[in-house]
Amino acid sequence: MPRAAITGLGAHLPDYILTNAELEKLVDTTNDWIIERTGIRERRILKEGATSDMGAKAVTDLCQRRGISPDEIDLLICATVTPDMLFPSTAGIISHKAGAKRAWGYDVEAACGGFLFSLVTAAQFIETGRHKKVVVVGADKMSSIVDYTDRNTCILFGDAAAAVLLEPTDDPLGLIDYVSYVDGSGAPHLHMKAGGSLKPPSVDTVLAREHFIYQDGKPVFKAAVVGMADATAEIMARNGLTGETVDYLVPHQANNRIIEATRERMGLAPERVMVNIHRYGNTTGATIPLCLHDWEPQLKTGHNLVLAAFGGGFTWGAAYVKWAYGS
Ligand code: UT7
Repeated sequence: MPRAAITGLGAHLPDYILTNAELEKLVDTTNDWIIERTGIRERRILKEGATSDMGAKAVTDLCQRRGISPDEIDLLICATVTPDMLFPSTAGIISHKAGAKRAWGYDVEAACGGFLFSLVTAAQFIETGRHKKVVVVGADKMSSIVDYTDRNTCILFGDAAAAVLLEPTDDPLGLIDYVSYVDGSGAPHLHMKAGGSLKPPSVDTVLAREHFIYQDGKPVFKAAVVGMADATAEIMARNGLTGETVDYLVPHQANNRIIEATRERMGLAPERVMVNIHRYGNTTGATIPLCLHDWEPQLKTGHNLVLAAFGGGFTWGAAYVKWAYGS
């Protein structure tokens, strides 16, 4: 059975930088509080356009850097919680905009667990031998659902897209193992109240500001610390990995304190954790591929990577990936 190896990366970051100083003018917060409690210094904001515009640019970047034509892509999966529209899928729009004419595809909605869930889903199509080139793009315009009058949430999120290409390999590289979990009892703590079938949009829902992210931070924080560390410990134990043999932890970037708790549980040195939350905030579907993109020059064939995420749902999990290129 072939394994699914990550063989290329692409990303797109909007130009506009929203700093903590600008947020200080919008809500009752301080730069010091944000840095101390989250690690975030700035995030990118897409002023014009939609999630698919960032996603298509990330896919174009990936194709150019990998030296492939977009119409070689067989399947494109988009992890997003901010689709252009409720339907049709953003994956289809991205394929159209990026010129991936042969690709079929669909969206995966698993909030901050979305990229990880999409990655392990995409890998199945490679492992069965059915497809040769599968793209997973994590793309979110979080600013479209952030309430910039709510200091509990508006400091956390940013906009971005990043993509990975999966191709088959007969070497012992690529996605080796994963654990994935979902627990719907977490929904009350992190959700959007209106706009779905439960509470369709109305004048009242708009006036009540129910089309924005609602988060009760504390219970989410507690569950994230336990969930991400437990999933990581499980994947390490199952694969005989230790703090010495893991080259990089690639964590979802929600809060630096959650990342630190996972790192400590793994017994991993700080320099072996990919952290870019200070520059981008929480970009939901894009965080993990954006880390891979930023660390790509340091990655070498055979490196042991543990990817880990926790998000709304709750959704969480971890994946063991052996890096497949770079020397
Ligand atoms: O990726 C999806 C999953 N999401 C996450 O993993 C996020 C998990 N949660 C968190 O990261 C943290 O809970 C937050 C960063 C959202 C909040 O940090 P916290 O340390 O849990 O703070 P808190 O909610 O317990 O609030 C502490 C205090 C409160 O004031 P009182 O009640 O103690 O007087 C808040 O009102 O901090 C206040 N506060 C703020 N103060 C200044 C909340 N937000 C702010 C703010 N600036 N932006």
